[in-house]
Amino acid sequence: MSQTQETTVPTLTFNNGVRVPQLGFGVFQIEPKETQRIVEDALEAGYRHIDTAAAYRNEAGVGAAIAASGIAREDIFITTKLRNGEQGTTDEAFRDSLQALGVDYVDLYLIHWPIPSQGLFVQAWNKMEKLYADGQMRAIGVSNFLADHLDSLLSVSDVVPAVNQIEIHPTFQQRELSAKCRSVGIAVEAYSPLGQGSDLKATAVESMADKYGVSPAQIVLAWHLSQGTVAIPKSANPTRMRENLEAVNVTLTPAEVAEITALESDARIGADPAVAAHSQM
Ligand code: A2P
Repeated sequence: MSQTQETTVPTLTFNNGVRVPQLGFGVFQIEPKETQRIVEDALEAGYRHIDTAAAYRNEAGVGAAIAASGIAREDIFITTKLRNGEQGTTDEAFRDSLQALGVDYVDLYLIHWPIPSQGLFVQAWNKMEKLYADGQMRAIGVSNFLADHLDSLLSVSDVVPAVNQIEIHPTFQQRELSAKCRSVGIAVEAYSPLGQGSDLKATAVESMADKYGVSPAQIVLAWHLSQGTVAIPKSANPTRMRENLEAVNVTLTPAEVAEITALESDARIGADPAVAAHSQM
């Protein structure tokens, strides 16, 4: 276990004072039967922030890896998410997630998608506020929320979401939405931060990687860190897991940051939250 890597990952502080390691390990699309091994590798590499979801069906593997690691529970930041079809039964869904993870609290619980057609996300948020007040979640937030979804929550709730976790990578940055989040105290987390691998081939990224003698993924992650965004890259490969964590040691010049920002091309990979339906995911 590398103490050095563990201590060098910067943290961001949420609006309620809870701190989160700015680089986490995402387990979206990791097969349930592979999850324990892969998360054990990630913990061994030095990650202390693991991002899962009930919908990924791999919470149990995350929990098994954490238990097997011997690392103290309070030293690992765990995020999981409310499944879309369970927005009307949030208490039960959360209890199931705790059970699958084998823990008695999570660090961050998110509404996974707004699914506006269901009309249930405000109700789910109200339930989460109660669970948060009971101390079963250290912070609560949302994922895939657009500005109007955030406005709906902010108009009825005193608890400002700690986080909005959204798709962000150089070719799809959602800068306006991110600015809105930050203006009201919501931290921004980037999923698919590497564009699921597709943004690593951009010429600007490759030439910066050559210049610094680092990998394209490290350049893209250094750009995320420069933006004050939490990023949760995933990799099934232990060498790339380590490589991604070491992006904290890469510093880009303002001109290089701007060059990557100029790669914006509105290239969304995942579903559009405005129209995504529960049945689609
Ligand atoms: P692999 O699991 O084989 O490493 P994202 O986090 O944006 O969803 O991207 C994940 C994808 O990017 C996966 O296909 C992963 O493949 C790949 N990937 C992750 N880290 C690296 C890296 N350092 N270099 C190249 N590809 C990477």
